[in-house]
Amino acid sequence: MNPDLRDSPSVITLDGPAGVGKSTMARRLAASLGVAYLDTGAMYRTLGLGLGAGAADLSDGELRRRCAEYRFSLESCPSNPDSLCLFCNGRMVGDEIRTEKAGRLASLVARLPALREALQSVQRDMGRRWSLVAEGRDMGTRVFPEAQHKFFLDARPEVRAERRCRDLAQRGEAADKAAVLAAIRARDEQDRTRAVDPLRPAPDAHVIDTSDLTPDEVLQSLIHTVRAPAFSHLAADGSLRMVDVGGKGESERVARARGVVEMRAETLDLLRRRALPKGDVLTAAKIAGIMAAKRTWEMIPLCHPLSITYADLRFSIQDEPPAVILESEVRARGATGVEMEALFAVQTAAATIYDMAKAAQKDMIIRDVRLVYKAGGKSGEFTAPG
Ligand code: DC
Repeated sequence: MNPDLRDSPSVITLDGPAGVGKSTMARRLAASLGVAYLDTGAMYRTLGLGLGAGAADLSDGELRRRCAEYRFSLESCPSNPDSLCLFCNGRMVGDEIRTEKAGRLASLVARLPALREALQSVQRDMGRRWSLVAEGRDMGTRVFPEAQHKFFLDARPEVRAERRCRDLAQRGEAADKAAVLAAIRARDEQDRTRAVDPLRPAPDAHVIDTSDLTPDEVLQSLIHTVRAPAFSHLAADGSLRMVDVGGKGESERVARARGVVEMRAETLDLLRRRALPKGDVLTAAKIAGIMAAKRTWEMIPLCHPLSITYADLRFSIQDEPPAVILESEVRARGATGVEMEALFAVQTAAATIYDMAKAAQKDMIIRDVRLVYKAGGKSGEFTAPG
């Protein structure tokens, strides 16, 4: 088990309609993250088979009492003691629930609020105890609304029918594609339109249409999202947001950035002698860099407009290897730093050098653009190593 996830249980939810490949994905995602896999459909199937269609005629009190007779738990799998499997009353839930009949009955009992509440409470308990990839229909919307990551997998009904037929064929079972498609449509209708906890994506879920993706591509996309660091520019629903700096105090800000434009000795010689056809390269680059510093906020989406008090570019010429070294310096007084301005100034000046000299050489290389120094603000001073 992944120690990061074991220390404080965290839950990833995976919801979606029947036949979308959720189970395979949830199992593989759980295995690659080293956490447990919770198949909540298996719980509804177990109760569907156990209670039968007659469950719908029971009073809420009687239904709750009958549900309590099914004690679900996650325990070491007999085939692999390092993973957890779903058990009911001390016996592992197995393939007996994987029939069409069990699916139909599950969908039927899943409409009963008292039964859903009983299962949801057990599922929440499991989420408090274990780090999980929880798969079902209402994991992100109802059972784990505070889950760290929520996914909703979807696919066109025809694609899901095709996949289900392939699965059945692999298991040696005959499949009538039209009947499978009709069953999938009927189950969709039942799951999406039921009064309690209908199937729908949570507002903050990542919705992935898997119709034209391979299983490996879907898994990569899930893992990529889960492993991506939480940036402050990402709001809870994954959309972009500008950081509110209104409450931050103002201070003097300074930033310096550097970059290199590598070129052949002959090109450098023409530049030095101001003999390139477009004229004085470094003067043009200096003006371009200063303008870029002043307009950075217009080009970098979440950058704040700043009142710049100083911007300049310095150049030095290096003979071995032949290159122009650029250094920008930008200053402002404000609530946010000028690092982006310094970086953007160097990059624009470097691109201008390229533009001015490209008639003489096309394969100049712009490289090593980086922040070398900054001061001011809460994070204080920074000097790049080396
Ligand atoms: O994923 P599955 O096919 O094993 O699910 C069987 C049925 O159980 C499905 O029709 C909807 C229902 N279900 C549900 O309502 N809520 C869940 N969290 C999981 C399954």
